[in-house]
Amino acid sequence: MLFPSKRSIWAVGAILWVLGLAAPRPTEAFTTVAARHGMVVSGEPIASRVGVEILKAGGNAVDAAVAVGFALAVTHPFAGNLGGGGFMLIRLANGRSTFIDYREEAPGAATPTMYLDAHGNIVPGLSTVGALSVGVPGTVAGFALAEKDYGRLGLKAVMQPAIRLAEQGFPVSYWLSRSLKLHAALLSKFSETRRIYLRNGNFYRPGEIFRQPELARTLKMIADRGPQAFYRGPIARQIVATMRKYHGIITLKDLAAYRAIVRKPLRGNFRGYNILTAPSPSSGGVALVEMLNILAPLHLGPPNSYESIHLIAEAMRRAYADRAAYLGDTDFVSVPIAGLISPAYAAKLRQEILHSPPDAPIHAGNPLPFEHPNTTHISVVDSAGNAVSNTFTLNNGYGSGVTVLKAGFLLNDEMDDFTSKPGAPNMYGLIQSQANAIAPRKRPLSCMTPTIVTRSGKLRLVLGSPGGSTIMNTVLQVLLNVLVYKMDIREAVTAPRFHDQWMPDKLYLERWGFSADTVSRLKAAGYKIAFRGPMGECEAIEVDPKTGWKFGAADPRSNGRAVGY
Ligand code: DON
Repeated sequence: MLFPSKRSIWAVGAILWVLGLAAPRPTEAFTTVAARHGMVVSGEPIASRVGVEILKAGGNAVDAAVAVGFALAVTHPFAGNLGGGGFMLIRLANGRSTFIDYREEAPGAATPTMYLDAHGNIVPGLSTVGALSVGVPGTVAGFALAEKDYGRLGLKAVMQPAIRLAEQGFPVSYWLSRSLKLHAALLSKFSETRRIYLRNGNFYRPGEIFRQPELARTLKMIADRGPQAFYRGPIARQIVATMRKYHGIITLKDLAAYRAIVRKPLRGNFRGYNILTAPSPSSGGVALVEMLNILAPLHLGPPNSYESIHLIAEAMRRAYADRAAYLGDTDFVSVPIAGLISPAYAAKLRQEILHSPPDAPIHAGNPLPFEHPNTTHISVVDSAGNAVSNTFTLNNGYGSGVTVLKAGFLLNDEMDDFTSKPGAPNMYGLIQSQANAIAPRKRPLSCMTPTIVTRSGKLRLVLGSPGGSTIMNTVLQVLLNVLVYKMDIREAVTAPRFHDQWMPDKLYLERWGFSADTVSRLKAAGYKIAFRGPMGECEAIEVDPKTGWKFGAADPRSNGRAVGY
């Protein structure tokens, strides 16, 4: 046509824009990405590029993080979401920090025994698949709150890239195509999910365009009317209709009652560095600070040597044993957090580690005497030095498998993070106590550990990871790799990882990451070694305090990407 209509010009522009985002940039090679102004690291390349676009358009780190979060809900349905929840840790360039808890919440009708049969046994799958496993989603409330209080561009503007990606579609990567196929069993269980993500069995191949018109409509409604559209309006009604169809229990009242909560970040110190991390209802921050406190004065030996693995694994075991015994949502139960993160308590545990054989059985310690009466990851740094560390989730990949009817997004299965039955392992093998029992409006204990490190008031590191129960151990090891072993950020994120969560009594090593000599010594010392595939997916940024240059590293364990400008 000679004179194309405005509409078709717009459509062509939008297609070019999407294809542009899909094309790799030379600055994204598998090396440390260095940037003078801003840096975005996320679990999916298109979403990382969206973040940099927002920064270049004058957005700050919060604008970029929220834009990336919504983009991930489109391009990374494995974990990016509207139907899940998470934590956003923000540190402004002026040194102020805050933590937005948008964790899912148990519905009003939830009970402590809702996943047990008449004999008191766990019904397999009930807390992990289907509508009953869904917690009241927090993502939309969390992002809207972050944007309102700290963003510069406004919700509508930062949601535009996600809307376009959903509407125009984006080319399916090899990794997304593979992931959808690998999870076909879960995704086939619910017809709406099967239609959207598996195209009714005609699986998306790499390079094909994945359009999500229902999701685009949902995103537009949120952009136009704000989070009320999700929690009180048409989307809330669709969530409840979906619940009705699949026998879930979330009501309109549960959705209307949901609030993102502003909390104080948990603070710790490690060899002169200040650690800002996740408070309750995460267990990640408490465990991270407890482990760092135990390890701080120790000479750790060379990285991934027998000596270092032994000392770090012993710190891990103790922190996880304490987690199992004490931790739960502090809005509902009292948790001896001040004791658990006190250096004096850590000193006691350290002595125990130094004076007992590695295979000695351990139990939760007693932090009570140390208690004082005051209590997919996205990393972004903008050119002013504002930083956001955001971890959010549907729990396991693709969550409960349930897609909200006509609304095009998946719902979480975060209810499995509660204690279904004290002493019985959850999907990550974690044993938990009554402190984390299910109760209406309570938030399930999490391991998500978005973290920011500063020194002498200057931003140094922004990092976090998925990985269920392995999360805080991943964050710990990347921190130690930088702060103790002086690796650069890419080396720190790439280095082989190990994981001990007390129960099951195993020391997990990433396959191929450790020398046969080290493994033999660990076995001889009594560790029950188990090999695993890649653990965690840390997306990290390091800032040079002298020059302000930002160095980004996406974890090579999956398809994340660091993009700077
Ligand atoms: O909040 C938690 O601890 C879990 N729901 C996180 C799940 C997770 O990291 C899955 N990723 N691999």
